[in-house]
Amino acid sequence: MNSKSNIHIEDSVDAAAKAAADFWVQCATAAIRTRGAFHVAFSGGSTPKYLHRYLLMDEYRERIDWSRVHVFFGDERMVMCDHPDSNYRMVRETLLDHVDIPQANIYSVVDDALLMSDDPSQSASVLATNYAKILDELLPHDKHGLIKFDLVMLGMGADGHTASLFPGTSILDECTRTVAEVYVEKLKAWRVSLTFPVIEQARQRLLLVCGEDKAEVLAKVFTHADKDDYPVKRFASLSDSQWFLDKMAASKLGAQ
Ligand code: 6PG
Repeated sequence: MNSKSNIHIEDSVDAAAKAAADFWVQCATAAIRTRGAFHVAFSGGSTPKYLHRYLLMDEYRERIDWSRVHVFFGDERMVMCDHPDSNYRMVRETLLDHVDIPQANIYSVVDDALLMSDDPSQSASVLATNYAKILDELLPHDKHGLIKFDLVMLGMGADGHTASLFPGTSILDECTRTVAEVYVEKLKAWRVSLTFPVIEQARQRLLLVCGEDKAEVLAKVFTHADKDDYPVKRFASLSDSQWFLDKMAASKLGAQ
């Protein structure tokens, strides 16, 4: 296995989510202690719900000064904020609506007023440019002028995509913009996503990947497969990536 990342394999989805929640709290308390604020990008999909459940528990929630947590989104679907497919809605309902975080600290990608149903490509482009401005204004910059998340949370699809960085899509080659729109042919849909550079330059990445359907690709991600085949592989060789896997997702790692 040629990865410098940190891989944590747990017996169940719940145990992997708990380990990921421990790491999340560790990152949040360290950032707030040392820099006065925690800038975090949340992931979409279904697996994060298990992690959010832990963050709502007293022994986790009460260790965080939520007034100093600034919430962003790693990617978003071109739907209204109250739409069932909205990542913003998922994170709100499974976490943010139940913690004492100021509304002003939550930065949605989608502004419903900017969603033009008759031209989703235009919406995606306007929202991507808009969100890049928000990140540039609100995120700390390092000495090279690069914006810096304290933590970017990521999942992985069975095809090796992460955020909305899908195999074979134009956004994989984006190396200047921090946020970009992308048309995902297999979904017949536009998405807005953080790009590789801004995720790579984050202080830490938390990858929570569970389920047997992910095992085949995960094994290849940690071995010889080309990075473009599986976009998530880009983060496998970065030392500040923490991977939280259940044993089903990790079931083919050993074989490799
Ligand atoms: C999204 C996500 C996406 C997700 C994976 C895994 O908007 O869908 O950002 O990258 O993390 O598709 O999704 P599951 O957790 O549902 O398997």
